[in-house]
Amino acid sequence: QVIKCKAAVLWELNKPFSIEEVEVAPPKAHEVRIKTKEYVQYNPSETKKNLCGGSAVKNLPANTGNVEESVLSSSPGDKVIPLFIPQCGKCNVCKHPEANLCLKFQLKEPRGTLNDGTCRFTCRGKPIHHFLGTSTFTQYTVVDEMSVAKIHADSPLEKVCLIGCGFSTGYGSAVKIAKVTQGSTCAVFGLGGVGLSVIMGCKAAGAARIIAVDINKDKFARAKQVGATECINPQDYEKPIEEVLKEVSGGGVDFSFEVIGRLDTMMSALLCCQEAYGVSVIVGVPPHAQNISMNPMLLLTGRTWKGAIFGGFKSKESVPKLVTDFMAKKFSLDQLITHVLPLEKINEGFDLLRSGMSVRTILTF
Ligand code: APR
Ligand code: ZN
Repeated sequence: QVIKCKAAVLWELNKPFSIEEVEVAPPKAHEVRIKTKEYVQYNPSETKKNLCGGSAVKNLPANTGNVEESVLSSSPGDKVIPLFIPQCGKCNVCKHPEANLCLKFQLKEPRGTLNDGTCRFTCRGKPIHHFLGTSTFTQYTVVDEMSVAKIHADSPLEKVCLIGCGFSTGYGSAVKIAKVTQGSTCAVFGLGGVGLSVIMGCKAAGAARIIAVDINKDKFARAKQVGATECINPQDYEKPIEEVLKEVSGGGVDFSFEVIGRLDTMMSALLCCQEAYGVSVIVGVPPHAQNISMNPMLLLTGRTWKGAIFGGFKSKESVPKLVTDFMAKKFSLDQLITHVLPLEKINEGFDLLRSGMSVRTILTF
């Protein structure tokens, strides 16, 4: 049966969301309809960029949102987290032991539909597109079975929702992609929610020094709370930040992370890692259709330059494990949550984000 419910719909790029009544069609084969029980994480940075005209939301109007934790309508009581990268389990990437970018992921050519090419939402007589296969700014959504993970029945939804995107992206970049080593020195550029999660990963991996870099010094206190050992504002120095970092680390850091999404800081992060063995990881999403030109000597000397989406985690199998780790108190998510707002105030949440005042806002339904 079709369900009518409340949702935040983006009719046009660079315009606020509008709260609407939408119709949500029943799931087809290999799909599940999810009721957003209480909370949804909203992934501010992604959507912010999309609102500014990035590539992911080409198909407007879209019902956007990244990560939601919900109850499966088919078996009430099951807690789940929707996955913006699916894990089909059958493609070459899913079968590869290390990779996570399932070939069913509509990254470069987003269609704004479920896997079968059609939409489950309508509003005011018009079809509404899906966003990254999740569409979670709504009381009910429909996702493909490969885009949802069942999690521990006792999970606190208002916290573990962060595992669906920002936290795992940062944490995995440190522990899984860079493979930060015990006693190492790390530099983290950008101290938003994802950068803070990188710091937590570096700390969990036993880094001895974690140097946090940001042009907003208001970000430093929280960075220290999650594990940064020192904080640097590039604007306090005349020389380029990579030179400063090479100096303070005695020749270059072991691991560096760009968690902003800027080409200049991606280059600085590469340059500040030790030339013979440094590893630099791109975590931030770069501006659409821009290139970096670089001297190959920077890599020929021995550096490694890599990147990953969602911290390299295979989504469907890793998300439940990360939730279990959270329940076992292997990491905390409290420092990442600064605001809680009802769905109706979604636009206020984006204002908080753009001003740099929030880390992550949890929406309540
Ligand atoms: N140098 C240093 N820090 C900077 C600079 C700069 N030139 N420009 C911005 N920053 C800082 C901001 O002050 C802010 O603290 O980078 C931080 C970015 O944080 P957020 O905008 O909150 O972003 P976040 O949600 O952490 O995501 C970061 O990772 O997964 C990606 O899409 C995501 O590209 C985004 C990035
Ligand atoms: Zn796959």
